[in-house]
Amino acid sequence: MTLASHWPAVLQAVMQGQPRALADSHYPQWHPAPVTGLMNDPNGFIWFAGLYHLFYQWNPLGCDHRYKCWGHWSSVDLVHWQHEPMALMPDEEYDRNGCYSGSAVDNNGLLTLCYTGNVKFDDGGRTAWQCLAVQNDDGSFTKLGPVLPLPEGYTGHVRDPKVWCHDGQWYMVLGAQDLQKQGKVLLFTSDDLHHWQPCGEIAGQGVNGLTDAGYMWECPDLFALDETFVLICCPQGLEREPHRYLNTYPAVWMSGAFDYETASFAHGELHELDAGFEFYAPQTTVAEDGRRILIGWMGGPDGEEMLQPTRTHGWIHQMTCPRELRYRDGKLWQTPVRELEQLREAGNVWQGNASDAPWLDATRLEFELTASCMYVDFAGSLRLMLDDSGLRLERASLKTGETLTRYWQGVVHHLRVLCDRSSVEIFINNGEGVMSSRYFPEHPAQVRFEGASAITLCYWSLHGCMIE
Ligand code: FRU
Repeated sequence: MTLASHWPAVLQAVMQGQPRALADSHYPQWHPAPVTGLMNDPNGFIWFAGLYHLFYQWNPLGCDHRYKCWGHWSSVDLVHWQHEPMALMPDEEYDRNGCYSGSAVDNNGLLTLCYTGNVKFDDGGRTAWQCLAVQNDDGSFTKLGPVLPLPEGYTGHVRDPKVWCHDGQWYMVLGAQDLQKQGKVLLFTSDDLHHWQPCGEIAGQGVNGLTDAGYMWECPDLFALDETFVLICCPQGLEREPHRYLNTYPAVWMSGAFDYETASFAHGELHELDAGFEFYAPQTTVAEDGRRILIGWMGGPDGEEMLQPTRTHGWIHQMTCPRELRYRDGKLWQTPVRELEQLREAGNVWQGNASDAPWLDATRLEFELTASCMYVDFAGSLRLMLDDSGLRLERASLKTGETLTRYWQGVVHHLRVLCDRSSVEIFINNGEGVMSSRYFPEHPAQVRFEGASAITLCYWSLHGCMIE
């Protein structure tokens, strides 16, 4: 049975699920999250005709990965979001096992979605079609069908088209796995979005001398940024290192020179994009004023996600806040978009020894901290330790209760932290690093500062801003 025949069940799930989700003390109050079911990747992020659009991988029928639809929100300012009609459901032969991730483009004034139609066979095999859909006047989408079958030389794991236009020509990067089970990023080009020519592999295991780079690369995004090119991607199968790549799958960035003529990307090392516990499948777009904005899934597959307590309230996962990207001194910098400052209530400043600092209400909170050696306790459920080597973020495993740690190494001179009920985003040194994590404290929850060192603390309560 295709999901289309479940329409009444979807309506019921939303009607019953939304009040339950909103009543959950862990439900975010200013980050986008699903009103019911499971949300994963951000999709189709675009500024189009005066509005930002953010689509998302969504299973409205359960807190698992069984169904993959595209939900849809829009916003004038990246802060106030509105529900739009659900955009895609897996109801065609070519997308019957999921309308997987993809992007959106402005094709001469027509909002056009490029997504992966995922098809699984009874024998365990699978194939993938890259597909198009266009927006109708009433906000719904009409599918135009597949425009690219599985390229030769790759397994059924070819997906997540990110499409953009350069000098009148369309380009698409795809995440892929070749027949030797090596993760790759493929480039294609087209005159019309319907006919695509392959340009080869631009990154991945065995490309540009890269070794030990994993068996599948998901969700690539390639863009020019401040005189360089950046490729963001999610390689699966990277070795865990003592201080990085500690989540099941990481999101990474690499920068370098991309040549449209030769379709080659000479890039440097891989860097982890976010050092926290939950961050995956980010996507970027260009804002009205030219800023490059990123939103990520504050979650990750195949880890402890199925143990998150919000599942008992019928929903799971949330997005990160929107972040502006810059490239400077060989590094990718991420800062919360300035629009988020409108959420701030009156500001407070406090100076003294960390342990004497006021306890702050963690519900909706932003604080900036200048300190050397100390730690921050988030409601006894998450702990951030700061010393000369950098940051350690600790929490208990939902499975075993053992302490899990994530690291950011380097000299920390400034922290900016955004809290929203069950999430914390830590921006280090004005964007040099980020750690995004969920946690599930008892509410009312408090943030406490500990240690004998002197700190300067600026803090704001934030307004709630739920999707309407
Ligand atoms: C990343 C991902 C994508 C895929 C989507 C399916 O989280 O696995 O590669 O398109 O999720 O929901």
